[in-house]
Amino acid sequence: MTVESVKPEPSAATELREPPVAAGGVPVLGHGWELVRDPLAFMTRLRDHGDIVRLRLGPKTVYAVTTPALTGALALSPDYIISGPLWESLEGLLGKEGVATANGPLHRRQRRTIQPAFRLDALPAYGPVMEEEAHALTGRWASGQTVDCTSESFRIAVRVAARCLLRGRSIDERAERLGAALTTVFGGMYRRMVVPLGPLYKLPLPANRAFNRALADMHLLVDEIVAERRASDQKPNDLLTLLLEAKDDNGDPIGEQEIHDQVVAILTAGSETIASTIMWLLKLLAEHPEHGDKVRDEVEAVTGGRPVTFEDVRRLTHTNNVVVEAMRLRPAVWILTRRAVTETELGGYRIPAGADIVYSPYAIQRDPESFERHLEFDPDRWLPERSKDVPKYAMRPFSTGNRKCPGDHFSMAMLTLTTATMATRFRFEPVAGSDDTTRVGITLRPNRLLLRPVAR
Ligand code: HEM
Repeated sequence: MTVESVKPEPSAATELREPPVAAGGVPVLGHGWELVRDPLAFMTRLRDHGDIVRLRLGPKTVYAVTTPALTGALALSPDYIISGPLWESLEGLLGKEGVATANGPLHRRQRRTIQPAFRLDALPAYGPVMEEEAHALTGRWASGQTVDCTSESFRIAVRVAARCLLRGRSIDERAERLGAALTTVFGGMYRRMVVPLGPLYKLPLPANRAFNRALADMHLLVDEIVAERRASDQKPNDLLTLLLEAKDDNGDPIGEQEIHDQVVAILTAGSETIASTIMWLLKLLAEHPEHGDKVRDEVEAVTGGRPVTFEDVRRLTHTNNVVVEAMRLRPAVWILTRRAVTETELGGYRIPAGADIVYSPYAIQRDPESFERHLEFDPDRWLPERSKDVPKYAMRPFSTGNRKCPGDHFSMAMLTLTTATMATRFRFEPVAGSDDTTRVGITLRPNRLLLRPVAR
């Protein structure tokens, strides 16, 4: 990982302006109603009001950053950290000691601990699992029979993350149970984060019971995985070994709770994102069969007809571009938040200490100022001769700076291999009853995508 850290040049305090208030707020709720009603459209319109705009969410003011350059400056500056009510709700569900919510020296130490499992040179060891799971996924699909893309995508995402990063005798069976638990947890987590109705989520309603059971199952499975590894005396070269051998700043082993919370943080961050992206890739392959054909042609040219392998991935440049373009239009992570630790300057505006700041990779990556024919699915825009014109920070689906996703290379390898495998074996047709409208949650994904794979 390159940790870039650049502090924007401070302007003289007197010159700093207040960002304008975005148009369209209503009394009492401010912009809250629009944000809840259609968050993607709302975030996408904000650039028309300014580079940074203030949003009124009830009594609270939130700062929204709307240009690629300023989102880069925000992500790279040490003046903004992960904090705020959304993160606190997340910690309540997933644990307080995971890397995704830590800040400062603890965060740096945790990143150093996990980084070796995600380096480019660690990936080939995951190749066989990625291949096996991609071939198992498509091997299960029968030509002409409807596939529920939500469960299939979650299943492969969780299985690959668990089998690569937490190897062990029983991981196969546990990955299956983890997949089921995580699917339910992801179904209810976003609502619990954005609509804090505390006691209501404790009522013994079927949906609450299912959520609480799944959350408890997930935590229990993680405990079982850690306990089994400790009992086994095995030290495979994986993330769990790194965590079990990690030392804190005093040179002592890190605590059980931190190990647990780290595993949960990485599994959760790594599965819904991948699952959502696979769903969008399937939808796009169904909508653009010509790109499915092009992927198949590229794979055949590289493999000469044998099953595609991890080793082939770096030569599948068009397939990679299909994945990147899917992530541009359908970024799994559609909104990011930060909090200012001190009064600071961004883009010539004054940002007060304690301010909450948001930006949307979805809006940034669909901005007509950055991308020609911005709404068109055009994988060739990532050919080197064309991609050089894309403004800096206009395409950062994995973010940048010290919180940049550690799983970026892992994800690209897995998504490229999975796309290559799916498009080589099948074309995809729409199915009646499928609902591919966008479900806005912690990630973006289709509500209930059903497709019919047809063997090539
Ligand atoms: C952080 C996107 C896959 C683990 C992030 C962030 C983004 C992101 C945007 C930064 C969040 C922020 O700035 O606040 C994605 C996308 C993925 C993906 C789009 C796939 C399509 C994965 C995978 C793993 C993973 C496969 C691990 C198995 C993490 C972790 C963090 C993170 C642990 C927190 C890093 C930190 O706070 O230092 N991801 N991710 N992600 N991601 Fe990913």
